[in-house]
Amino acid sequence: MKVVISLGGSIISPDEPDYIKNVASLIKKASENLAIYVVVGGGKLARSYINVGRKLGASEEYLDAIGISATRMNAMLLNIFFNKTIPSSIEEACKISPPVIMGGTVPGHSTDAVGAMLAREIRADRFIIATDVDGIYDKDPKLHKDAKKFDKISIKELRRMAGDEWERAGKSAVVDAIACRIIEESKIKTCVVNGKNLRELENAIYGKKFNGTLVEIE
Ligand code: UTP
Repeated sequence: MKVVISLGGSIISPDEPDYIKNVASLIKKASENLAIYVVVGGGKLARSYINVGRKLGASEEYLDAIGISATRMNAMLLNIFFNKTIPSSIEEACKISPPVIMGGTVPGHSTDAVGAMLAREIRADRFIIATDVDGIYDKDPKLHKDAKKFDKISIKELRRMAGDEWERAGKSAVVDAIACRIIEESKIKTCVVNGKNLRELENAIYGKKFNGTLVEIE
């Protein structure tokens, strides 16, 4: 079975070395039974560099390139425990034997979209989006105490929330619009889970019942 995991930059970051160590051992263990592909996000590192770059007048494409470098820096931290080549395209990722650890690829989308593209390409059984909240909410749970979590959400509703297209570097949406389109078109089984909660992340990876949000694709 093939599982693609998008590990948000909010959870893989230089601030949390213990987490990186623990999630690496979870991925190693899961790799004994599953083909695991991990796409790491840029998080705070990406956003701080993108914000400065934008103030300095860089183009959006240039800012995306900065963001991609940040995703690869974070991927390199996780890759300490795997010591493998980090692919820089979907094509390259497909040629490496799993586990595969990578970051972003080309400008114009987030690492969630890279994960969805990879899941489409390898015909993954599951796509796990691991973020720093417990799933998809009707509004940002960090800003609104009364935000309501969805146990399930239809891909149509998620697409409505995500908007239609990629807007700008560093923009943080629940799941980016490009990823949503690929998930819908390729009918990719998608789960959103709090990646900081290793037990729930493990449940989602193994296809067990998990606390998070299941994206309904039919
Ligand atoms: P992220 O995937 O980390 O974006 O890529 P994000 O929306 O901030 O996600 P979280 O919050 O970390 O989960 C960081 C930035 O890098 C560029 C984009 O500008 C993105 O906002 N990027 C990333 C690309 O242009 N292409 C890629 O393939 C990946």
